[in-house]
Amino acid sequence: MNIIWNKTSGHFHLYNDRISYIIGVAINGELTNLYYGKKIHEKDDFSYITFRMGMPNIVVDADTESYSMELNCQEYPSFGTTDFGTPAYEIETENGSRVSSFVYKSHTISKGKKGIKGLPATYADAGEAMTLEILLEDEAASMTLTLSYTIFDKYPVIARHAEFAYTGSSKVRITRALSCCLDLPDQDYEMMQFDGAWARERIPMVRKLGNGMTSISSMRGVSSANHNPFIIIKRPNTDDFNGQAYGFSLVYSGNFLAGAEGSTHGRLRILMGINPERFTWMLKEGETFETPEVVMAMTDRGLNDLSQTYHRLFNNNLVRGKWKNEPRPILNNNWEATFMDFTEEKILKIARKAGDAGVELFVLDDGWFGERNDDFAGLGDWVENPKKLPQGIAGLARKINAMGLKFGFWIEPEMVNPDSNLYRRHPDWVLSVPGRKSSLGRHQLVLDFSREEVVDHIYGMLYKILKDAPVSYIKWDMNRSLTEVFSAGADSCEQGMIYHKYVLGVYSLYSRLIEAFPDILFESCSSGGNRFDAGMLYYAPQAWCSDNTDAIDRLRIQYGTSYGYPIVSIGSHVSAIPNQQTGRSVSIGTRANVAYFGTFGYELDLNEISDEEFEEVKGQIEFMKKYRELIQYGDFYRLRSPFEADQTAWMVVSQDKRKAIVGFYCLRSNVNTLPGFLRLAGLDKDILYRMEGRDYYGDELMNMGITLSEFYKKGFTISEDYASFVTVIEAV
Ligand code: DGJ
Repeated sequence: MNIIWNKTSGHFHLYNDRISYIIGVAINGELTNLYYGKKIHEKDDFSYITFRMGMPNIVVDADTESYSMELNCQEYPSFGTTDFGTPAYEIETENGSRVSSFVYKSHTISKGKKGIKGLPATYADAGEAMTLEILLEDEAASMTLTLSYTIFDKYPVIARHAEFAYTGSSKVRITRALSCCLDLPDQDYEMMQFDGAWARERIPMVRKLGNGMTSISSMRGVSSANHNPFIIIKRPNTDDFNGQAYGFSLVYSGNFLAGAEGSTHGRLRILMGINPERFTWMLKEGETFETPEVVMAMTDRGLNDLSQTYHRLFNNNLVRGKWKNEPRPILNNNWEATFMDFTEEKILKIARKAGDAGVELFVLDDGWFGERNDDFAGLGDWVENPKKLPQGIAGLARKINAMGLKFGFWIEPEMVNPDSNLYRRHPDWVLSVPGRKSSLGRHQLVLDFSREEVVDHIYGMLYKILKDAPVSYIKWDMNRSLTEVFSAGADSCEQGMIYHKYVLGVYSLYSRLIEAFPDILFESCSSGGNRFDAGMLYYAPQAWCSDNTDAIDRLRIQYGTSYGYPIVSIGSHVSAIPNQQTGRSVSIGTRANVAYFGTFGYELDLNEISDEEFEEVKGQIEFMKKYRELIQYGDFYRLRSPFEADQTAWMVVSQDKRKAIVGFYCLRSNVNTLPGFLRLAGLDKDILYRMEGRDYYGDELMNMGITLSEFYKKGFTISEDYASFVTVIEAV
C-alpha cells in the first residue's frame, strides 16, 4: 500500500495490491476523480484524463481553458458553479448564498487511521493502513473542508469522510453533508440494494442505472429494514463468482441517502451519507462538523469476494473489544417461549433445561422491569419488577450462573411508555412537537436522546443494575421509527440537528456502557433487523437479524444480509413450530441447519420439545461448539440463490482451505427431477478432501460438484419440502 503525491502533475495516487484510487487537483483548484478501479501503475502524469472541450458549455472562468466541472468526474462537488449534478454538500452563508467552492490548500499523508469524534468508524494501526487528508478552503465562506481517505493494506477498500470547519465570526448552516461522492466515467452499471420491512429484511433487489437519479433512503431515524445503508454498483454481468463491482457501506445508524445519478453526458455519480432531508447543522466560530464514514470496496472477482472483503474488514477493523474475532456463546432467549408472561421459577426451569443441553448463555428478554406485563406500560422504568424477579437481575443472574450458564438481559433504553414513571416525571423528555399529537408505535414514544440529561439518566439507571450483577450480554432493542422529531431542549434554529444528535446520543450511551462494562457482549436489535448497519457493529458486534425466525424465510434474510455483513454478526436462533410469524413447521434439524450460519441459539423452551428432539438439540450444540469458529470466521460463499431456485446453498471455508462446511436446503420440493450437482467454491484444487467417508479433490468438488443424490442415504431428498443437509469437508 502507498499514497503518492505528485506535485508536478497535481495528483494523489492511493494504491495497494488490488486497487488504485487517483485524485487530481483540477485547474479550478477543486478536486477531480481521475480513477478508481483495479490497480494500475503509478505515472508522472494523469492530467490527460481531464476533459476540456470547445462546445458550448459553462466554464469555471476565462483562465480555465474551457474546464467545466460538469464534464469531469468530481471528488466532492458542490452545486452552483459549473457542476449541475446532485451535490455532495451544500452550505448556506449568512447572506443566504448557497454557492461554495473549496480549493486545494495542503495535505498530509500519515500511517494508520484517526477516529471520528462521537461516531463509529473503522480503525487501523500504522502497518494496516495509510491516510490522506486533503485540506481545502472556501475563503469567501470562511470555511475549510478536510477530505480523508484511508487505504487499507490487505483489503481493496478506501474509507472516507469529510470534515467542515468554520473560521468566520458569525455562523453558517450546512444543509447537506454527504460522506462520499464517487463519479464514474460510464453508466453501464446496476445498483443492488437490500430492501424489506419488518420480518423480511435485506432482500436483494437490482435496478438498471441510467440517466437520472436511482436512490434509496431512510427518514425513520434508524437505518431501517426498508432500505439498508449498503449498496453495490455492479456491471450487469457481475454475479457472485465473477465480475466487477463497487460496494458502499455507510457506518451510520440514522437517516441516510444512497444513490446513483447518471448525467446525460454519460457520467455516473454515486452518493452516500446522512439524508439531507430535514438535516441542517449550524456552525459558529471555531466549530466543526464531521460526516459519518463510508467504506468503499472494489472487486473484479464477483460479489462473494466483495462480501468477504466487508466480512474481514468489519471483523478485524470495525468490531472492537473482548468479542472481536471471538466465537459467540450459544444462547437461549425466552422471548418466543414466554413473551412477558413469566416468573423467576419459570425462567429458571427454561435455563436449567438449556444448561442440560449444553447452552452457554441464558438471555432474559422483555418484561422484567417496572409494570411491564404487556406492551402498554413500563418502558423507561429500568428497575426490576419484584413480583417477577424477587432478588432482581443480580439474584437471577447468580442463580443462572450457578447452573453453569452465563446471563444476559434485554433493554430498550431509547423508549418510554406514556404509562411509566419516567414519562409522568419528565413528559418533555420525548421527541414531540408542542401543541401537536404524538404518534405512538407499539404504544411507546421516543426519548429525546439529543439531550445529554436524558442519556445521563438512562445510563444511571442501567449502571445501577449492571454494577452489582454478573451480566455477560445485553440485547439492546429499539422498536419504533422516529416521528414528530422536535426537541424541547433545542432552539428553533437547531431543530434540523435533532435527527443526527439523536444518533450521537445513542452512540454516546453505547460508548459509556462499553467503557464501564467492557466484557459485556452487546447484540443490537430493532424490531428484528430495523437497524442492522455497520455503525451498530462498532458497538454491538452482533445484531438480531429478524423477528422472522422461520427457517425457510430466514434462508432468504440471512442470504441477503451476508452481502454486506459478517456471518458472525447475524443473530440466528432455532425457534418453536409452528413458527410464530409464518405458521410453517420445519424439522428441528433444518431449523438448526439454517441457524448455524450466524451466532446460533434457541428461542424456545427446551422443556417443550420431545425427548428425541432434545437429544438432537444436544448434538446440534456439540456440532456448533466444534465448528463455530470455522462457520463464524471462515470465508463465506453464496452458492445458489434462494431468490432464483427452489434450493439454496452456501458454504464456509477455513483460511487455510483445509476445512469447509456446506449447507444445502430445499425451499420447495421438486418431484421427479434429477437432484443434480452442487458446485463448491473456495477450496484448494489440489487438496484431497474427505466428505461423508469418501475422498474428492478440490477441483472435483468445485468443477464437477457434490452429487446431491449421495445424501439420499442420510434421509435427504429434494422431493421433500424443507429438507436440508449440512456437511463437513476436511483435508485428508
Ligand atoms: C422486538 C425484538 O425483535 C424481539 O426479539 C423481542 O426482543 C421483542 N422486541 C421484545 O419486546
